[in-house]
Amino acid sequence: MGDVQDEHPADALDMPPDEHPADALGMPPDEMRRLAHWVVDSVLDHFEHGPLQPVIAARPFDELMGVLGGPVPEEPGDPLAAMSCLVDVALAHMQHGDHPRYFARVPGPSSFAAVLGEWLATGFNAIASSWAGGAGPTAVELVVLDWLRSLLGMPEGAEGVLTSGGSLANLTALVAARRVGGPGVVYLSDQTHASIRRDLAATGFPPEHVKVLETDDRYCMPVESVAAAVERDRREGRRPTVVVATAGTTNTGAVDPLPELADLCRSERLWLHVDGAYGAPGALCERGRSLLAGIELADSLVLDPHKWLFQPYDVGALLVRHPGALESTFDMSAEYLANATAGPGEVDLRDRSLELSRRARAIKVWLTFRVYGVGRMRAAIERGIELAEHAERVLADDGRWQVVTPAQLGIVTFARTGTGHEDHAPAAARVNHDGFAAVTSTTLRGRSVLRLCTINPRTTESDIEETIERLADPV
Ligand SMILES: Cc1ncc(COP(=O)(O)O)c(C=O)c1O
Repeated sequence: MGDVQDEHPADALDMPPDEHPADALGMPPDEMRRLAHWVVDSVLDHFEHGPLQPVIAARPFDELMGVLGGPVPEEPGDPLAAMSCLVDVALAHMQHGDHPRYFARVPGPSSFAAVLGEWLATGFNAIASSWAGGAGPTAVELVVLDWLRSLLGMPEGAEGVLTSGGSLANLTALVAARRVGGPGVVYLSDQTHASIRRDLAATGFPPEHVKVLETDDRYCMPVESVAAAVERDRREGRRPTVVVATAGTTNTGAVDPLPELADLCRSERLWLHVDGAYGAPGALCERGRSLLAGIELADSLVLDPHKWLFQPYDVGALLVRHPGALESTFDMSAEYLANATAGPGEVDLRDRSLELSRRARAIKVWLTFRVYGVGRMRAAIERGIELAEHAERVLADDGRWQVVTPAQLGIVTFARTGTGHEDHAPAAARVNHDGFAAVTSTTLRGRSVLRLCTINPRTTESDIEETIERLADPV
């Protein structure tokens, strides 16, 4: 510790006693401390007692605007009253993706160490844009990206960048793929996440260059269909460039045949992009690893730590196999950045995506790995996979239900027995409405089904059993 203090850069400055106010807008330090403790206590209350609160709560637009809105405040207000209003009104009326009975969409079971890391990064206003202006946070991000790379089995030298989430990470990958491979046709499946089609449209891929292929009866993209489409496109004079595979579809947790798609891409000289936004962290544990075999063969791979690596929003990650591909796509220079340009062996992360000013999202991820160790995270991921298997067993043993797709990477889908076309959305809405649990219905080949995503390790078996029971309740 002594060494660290000795090396503190401020020691070298020999400055007079600090005369600067502690807060840019004049809050005195004692008040800052008092309010900060209140915030810590509120967040701890949320972690300790959140499971007793409704999983989702909403209030009508007019009511929320009535309490939160009004004219721009001209004069200072009571900070505790304002913070209480945030906790009791704004933050109470939302989905609590970290609640143990939040099974909807993809939960976000954030861990406390990650929150601490986020607070530190925000409190120090950390920036990870250039080496000159953020060497420490940049180094942390490079370390985190390399940890993710090695955990997912990608080769040394693969590079990456953190983004706000899966949509932006996928977009960053697709822009880089087009820059490297040139314009041409992209192949997706009918289970590819909707954000990818939006990414492609936004980045100017013409609709005729976006081929959506039908999935097989396991909701996976058949490699034969991709091969046939590529062959047809070449024959008709189009230029195949990118295959988008999904490692854990949002609807059912299905994983496309990654090794076979990688073989095809290698022989056809196509870029294989793998969207593992929710599913890829499954590869950290043994059970998930076998389902995700081949993920390491991707040219670009996306995963979202704010989904299944126990991080608060937001943080997505992109890993790219080819060193320099991101920099050659996103390199930017500006006159005023001349003295903030990386030297040899340094990295300017602003050159790896469309963000210039960038939050230091890696700080929380780094702290999470350091505090818990990957072993604890691995066990927590494995638990999420097991919970869906438990749900599947409960459903299979209950004559009122039919399992539609088996538990895969923490997702199971199911429908009421004997109902070909019953809409399951009302059952999900009822359970969501009373605040007990959050469940989504979805549609598979035109059939409405219910879906549980069980990736929160705080969930208990009885949380699952009671949620299924309530879904069965016809009233
Ligand atoms: C497979 C997949 N890809 C992409 C996304 C988009 O991620 P984000 O919401 O972080 O932008 C999601 C979100 O659920 C997803 O499940």
